[in-house]
Amino acid sequence: MITGTKIKLRDKRLADALGDYSWRTDPELVQLDAAPLLTIAFPQYLADCAVELRYPPPTKRSFAIETLDGKHIGNCVYYNISKFKGEAELGIMIGNRDYWDKGYGTDAVTALLSYIFRQTKLNRIRLKTLNSNQRAQKCFEKCGFTSYGNTNKDGHDFVLMEIHRQQWE
Ligand SMILES: CC(C)(COP(=O)(O)OP(=O)(O)OC[C@H]1O[C@@H](n2cnc3c(N)ncnc32)[C@H](O)[C@@H]1OP(=O)(O)O)[C@@H](O)C(=O)NCCC(=O)NCCS
Repeated sequence: MITGTKIKLRDKRLADALGDYSWRTDPELVQLDAAPLLTIAFPQYLADCAVELRYPPPTKRSFAIETLDGKHIGNCVYYNISKFKGEAELGIMIGNRDYWDKGYGTDAVTALLSYIFRQTKLNRIRLKTLNSNQRAQKCFEKCGFTSYGNTNKDGHDFVLMEIHRQQWE
């Protein structure tokens, strides 16, 4: 358990699957994340989640974001972990819109960075977010990320952002 000031990060559970499925089939949410809309039926999604919980990929660590009183409001992850390069990518989604623009995302990312830089040897965390996603960029800037370029992937324009261990310290 990782505790921030407004949120807790905990390991994922199978019971998260229903909320996660509703977020990953929500057109606005997947668009903000430039992710494909999930099209599989819930039973198949549940089965896939069970497999991932049982056999977690070695290059990915996922957490549920909970309010301090235990409400599951989103997820965050670091993935594409490269021990060789000392890097990973970070992702976050607060699926419950009632919790947008209230500092929960900033607190979750701050808590996750603190965990990564204290508990692992990774030296650089990077991410990409849509040019149009001003909320996300503001949130990541508040957490110490800086922009280092732009890219286009699958027709979407992204801002590339990074934070190094030294900046975090
Ligand atoms: C992006 C996300 C993680 C941010 O978390 P959050 O809790 O909403 O963000 P915070 O409240 O910590 O910070 C958001 C900041 O952006 C500002 N903001 C919101 N909309 C904005 C806009 N259109 N332009 C500029 N700033 C904006 C807020 O005012 C706030 O800044 P402030 O604290 O200085 O007032 C969350 O909204 C989310 O998950 N959204 C849906 C999915 C998504 O976009 N994921 C990110 C993919 S990279």
